Amino acid sequence: MNSNGTMPILPVEAYTSQDWFDREQACIFSRTWAFAGLTEDVSEPGQYVAVQAGLNNIFVVMGQDRQLRAFHNICRHRGTQLLRAVGNTKKVITCPYHDWTYSLEGCLLSVPDRKNQFPDMDMASLGLKRASVARWRGMLWVHPDENAESVEEWFGGVEPHLGPHNVEELVEYKSGRAEYDIAANWKIVVENYIDGYHLAHLHSGTLSMYDHRRIESGFDGPHFHFREPLSPEYAANVEMNAATPLVIPADKAGAWVPMLFPGIGLAENEDSWSVFHLTPLAPDRTRVVVRTKLADASVLAFASQSIRSFNFWSKRVRGKYDSDDADDPMASGDFMQEDIYACEQQQRSLKSPYFEHGPSSIEGEAGVRQHQELVKLWVEGEI
Ligand code: FES
Ligand SMILES: [Fe+2]
Repeated sequence: MNSNGTMPILPVEAYTSQDWFDREQACIFSRTWAFAGLTEDVSEPGQYVAVQAGLNNIFVVMGQDRQLRAFHNICRHRGTQLLRAVGNTKKVITCPYHDWTYSLEGCLLSVPDRKNQFPDMDMASLGLKRASVARWRGMLWVHPDENAESVEEWFGGVEPHLGPHNVEELVEYKSGRAEYDIAANWKIVVENYIDGYHLAHLHSGTLSMYDHRRIESGFDGPHFHFREPLSPEYAANVEMNAATPLVIPADKAGAWVPMLFPGIGLAENEDSWSVFHLTPLAPDRTRVVVRTKLADASVLAFASQSIRSFNFWSKRVRGKYDSDDADDPMASGDFMQEDIYACEQQQRSLKSPYFEHGPSSIEGEAGVRQHQELVKLWVEGEI
């Protein structure tokens, strides 16, 4: 902790410089478990997803034996990326460049004109490089190191602080999938996510159904956990107030909103479950993909096409301010738009020679400082 106690930990350059960005990619995002999708994304032999994990592109594929395997998405010839995004391969994986072909289990099977061009080739030594893959809470996770600590060890301490949701039983509301390209450093996005101080203010219209005075939050290892109950008035009639059928018992209603290190948020509520998957793209650009699950398939038929984000608390929400400008995020009634606005404005201010960090609130922003401390330790190689 900084000797001032309530002053921020990281310098401005941590949010603006390519050097910091590169060190974070190497020291944090290449050394931790990365979100790769929902378990149903890879549920048949030949299905795959590819994901960026820091400096590594990794794909998860299901073999003919229905086992999940993860490999570095790098051809053993000249390194061309083998698979893109999400899809169904056939029975093998063929590199687009020179058609070297691998089995779903990662063995090199064939090389065009091998006898003439590579007479001494030892094909057995040219299999795909393995990474680690695991299922946890209805999600797929990958780690660049094939001998990584288990995902249960990595997340174990935070698990008791998560919601009672059975994620695999819920059904994805595909029209609710949202992708945001945010003009801010990834840490500003994370800090906003774990800042309890702003909830009653920036979101005074959009998240007023929660009792922000009864937040319970903290860190377990590198993972931030956060729980807040509904306001008594909203809770008294929660089934009527909820936008869709409840996904957990009414007496447990409320929100669990952890931020798993580094940059995987969950929003687990009484009527929906969402994952908020952050990918740093540049010092001042961050992609966030939000995927949402609801109670069951029948809900999908009724879910409104107008719901654009994981803001399923569509009742009782209003903008922070009234405005004649239809594009004013402060009048949108959508808390994601409010958050994105705040993050992008902060990033812009960092360029001003007049910017200096102000004091940080003792309780509401304690998590923000602790996250900054963690990032510093990881980047300095002390973890
Ligand atoms: S780079 Fe893949 S076959 Fe040449
Ligand atoms: Fe927010």
